[in-house]
Amino acid sequence: MELRNKVAVVTGVSKGLGLEIVKLLLGKGVIVAGWGRNQPSVTHPNFHFFSCDVADEAQVEQAYQATVARLGADIRILVNNAGFGVAGPLETMSSADWKSMFDTNVHGIFYTTKRLIPAMKAADEGHILNVASIAGLNGVANFAGYVGTKHAVRGISHSLYMELRDFGIKISTIYPGSIQTHFFDDIPGMDAHNHMMRAEDVAQTVVQTLETHPNYFVVDVECRPLRPKGKK
Ligand SMILES: NC(=O)c1ccc[n+]([C@@H]2O[C@H](COP(=O)([O-])OP(=O)(O)OC[C@H]3O[C@@H](n4cnc5c(N)ncnc54)[C@H](OP(=O)(O)O)[C@@H]3O)[C@@H](O)[C@H]2O)c1
Repeated sequence: MELRNKVAVVTGVSKGLGLEIVKLLLGKGVIVAGWGRNQPSVTHPNFHFFSCDVADEAQVEQAYQATVARLGADIRILVNNAGFGVAGPLETMSSADWKSMFDTNVHGIFYTTKRLIPAMKAADEGHILNVASIAGLNGVANFAGYVGTKHAVRGISHSLYMELRDFGIKISTIYPGSIQTHFFDDIPGMDAHNHMMRAEDVAQTVVQTLETHPNYFVVDVECRPLRPKGKK
């Protein structure tokens, strides 16, 4: 898709991967609506922040209405990036943490996506990019809940692309390995480090996936650090 002057919604824009995606999209001339709980310090004229906890459908509806009021309904791009993980043995995981991960990582995607599909159908063009994880491809000890959410993202994405391809809408999914972001801040015993991928590199792959020819559809992208433990 030609990106210049298109309107994009990106969720989870305060930091990490979402913030890098926003910066690159702005550099491509995209008009970006950032939906998130916390506002980043981005002052670009084409950046518009809308307060939104994606786990709360009423807030998603409010952000959607406010975005349409300010930028119009013709939104062609949605990047479902907001997400987090709680680690630990399943037997000690609280139900609140378990449900909260599904509320944001899975139900949040439902709340945002269903609202943006109609305009993409009307335009006969759209691209929804879901941020999963390599935790959406295989199991990880002590991450059963998070892994469950990201496997759900994969199944939802693949089903949706079959549902929407004839309407000119692409659904792509990216499965990154470890990225140097704030994701690890609340995970005991795990810290971001320099051998993890840089968020700007993953963001660049996201933007390249969005920029493809209308009849070229990247279904899945798996990306990993080449040397996750450094040079041996
Ligand atoms: N880092 C990794 O190793 C890694 C690997 C694979 C996939 N991922 C995925 O990449 C995505 C981005 O994570 P990140 O690594 O960039 O982590 P991050 O630095 O912690 O950023 C996460 C972003 O999501 C936002 N967010 C979380 N819950 C939200 C909610 N309910 N509503 C709105 N915004 C919410 C956060 O906003 P607040 O300021 O409100 O907290 C923040 O802006 C996530 O889906 C994550 O699962 C990360």
